[in-house]
Amino acid sequence: MGKRFGLIGHPVEHSMSPVMHNDAFRSCQIDATYEAFDVGAGDLEEVAEKLRSGELDGVNVTIPHKVAIMNFLDEIDRDAEVIGAVNTIVRRGEKLIGYNTDGAGYWESLVSYLPHDTSALNVLVIGAGGASRAVCAAFLNAGVAHLVVANRTEEKAATLLNLINTKQQSTEACSLAEAKTKLNQFDVVINTSSVGMSPHTDQLPLSLDNLKKDAVVSDLIYNPMETAFLKEAKAKGAITVNGVGMFVNQGALSFEHWTGVKPDRSRMTNIVTNKLG
Ligand code: ATR
Repeated sequence: MGKRFGLIGHPVEHSMSPVMHNDAFRSCQIDATYEAFDVGAGDLEEVAEKLRSGELDGVNVTIPHKVAIMNFLDEIDRDAEVIGAVNTIVRRGEKLIGYNTDGAGYWESLVSYLPHDTSALNVLVIGAGGASRAVCAAFLNAGVAHLVVANRTEEKAATLLNLINTKQQSTEACSLAEAKTKLNQFDVVINTSSVGMSPHTDQLPLSLDNLKKDAVVSDLIYNPMETAFLKEAKAKGAITVNGVGMFVNQGALSFEHWTGVKPDRSRMTNIVTNKLG
């Protein structure tokens, strides 16, 4: 019988992970399927049991279970520990191991747009939720010069940095209003907040009036593929990077953890962009 993989979260009905992973299994000639499971917090222990018994062979974890699922695992990979959340579970022998591929997936999607040497970059991350943590951890891993996290609730930005800035790198938390006044200092600006997501597609997390020339501007949102934020950045001459790459790469890295096989990322990207229309 083929292997069974899946996504656990709530809600999951609009997820593009099943179509993307099922196509990757087929094209890599791996006998496996991937389905979305809408599960509540009370079902997480049962999911872990299914993974231990072999009824399931691996899962992705999405909102709202990325933190709570950690209680049911045997080992947490270092990236996931720093990020404080798990998006991928792998069974190795008797053990369930939690990984987080969001940060590495994001970095993979952005790095080709950055200068070769990233050590001089001044980076602004908007938002201080789970997605922000993964992105900030990736920038700190890469060793950028200065990382600023701006959030509607400024204390959350400070808390996030206290948690993940374990090597005392140069970082700062600020309000959105403050970020706006010093926007021209940043080489890279990333929206990790949910502002601009469908159906509120006209909203901007931050006005880009003061954007530095040649800045790289990225948005983790992939529905819509081009947010109002990216449209405005593009109009100001910025290089823009949408959220499709992160979504594809985090999935591809999970796939690699489960199968040891590297799937074709451009094929996965086509599947996702076609589905997003
Ligand atoms: P995720 O796991 O996707 O990061 P999250 O943890 O719910 O989601 O975080 C959502 C982020 O979007 C937070 O930074 C949130 O700001 P607060 O911490 O102040 O709540 C931000 N956000 C959501 N709606 C917002 C809005 N209308 N204006 C500004 N920021 C908003």
